[in-house]
Amino acid sequence: MSLQIDILTVLPELLESPFNHSILKRAKEKGLLEIRVHHLRQWAVNEYGQVDDYQYGGGAGMVMMAEPLANAIEALSQDGPFEEIIYLTPDGERFDQRTANRLSLKGKLLLICGHYKGIDQRIRDKYVTREISIGDYVLSGGELAAAILVDAIGRLLPGVLNDETSALFDSFQDNLLAPPVYSRPAEWRGIRVPEILLSGDPRKIEDWRHEQSLQRTRQRRPDLLEGEED
Ligand code: ADE
Repeated sequence: MSLQIDILTVLPELLESPFNHSILKRAKEKGLLEIRVHHLRQWAVNEYGQVDDYQYGGGAGMVMMAEPLANAIEALSQDGPFEEIIYLTPDGERFDQRTANRLSLKGKLLLICGHYKGIDQRIRDKYVTREISIGDYVLSGGELAAAILVDAIGRLLPGVLNDETSALFDSFQDNLLAPPVYSRPAEWRGIRVPEILLSGDPRKIEDWRHEQSLQRTRQRRPDLLEGEED
């Protein structure tokens, strides 16, 4: 199983580098992930490359026009339909690990990056299957949000991470934050690694990590535990 992600943007330069490093680079090299970035201007309505226009009803800020977006979506769907067409927008549902897990099971996704005041509502109504926000703040465009989705989803694809880096132990996978981690030396500037981690007893270590996760979650993100603890 592999995942193809197409990204539609007016700023392809912003998406040139983020996927060429580390885990995502390896996912691409292994043929598990394919990322195709498309410049919306290819589907502009005139020779000036126009893809945005004033909004009806007045007000500052341009709107990304329906026609270029529709033509792009239709052209990119020719070699097979998208399982989800996702519009990145601050008024979408909040992105989280559960959504990342679900999207990692798909085969073909389209991400649409908004700019200016956003995209014509008719495109949202007619084509978009999901609207996602990466958090309660406004970015100047959807590109960095799209990059975050690709990263969070791409690393979950089966075969991308090995046992050591397994996503099973990430923060949020079981609604808990990850426990603290330590590396050598066992004593650094007078501060020792918790003795239990040096004990060599895997069960005790697992219990300790779980307890640390719980404590951290209670302190920092009690909302994650709501309805979970008895
Ligand atoms: N575009 C602008 N702000 C955004 C956000 N918070 N999430 C997703 N897309 C966005």
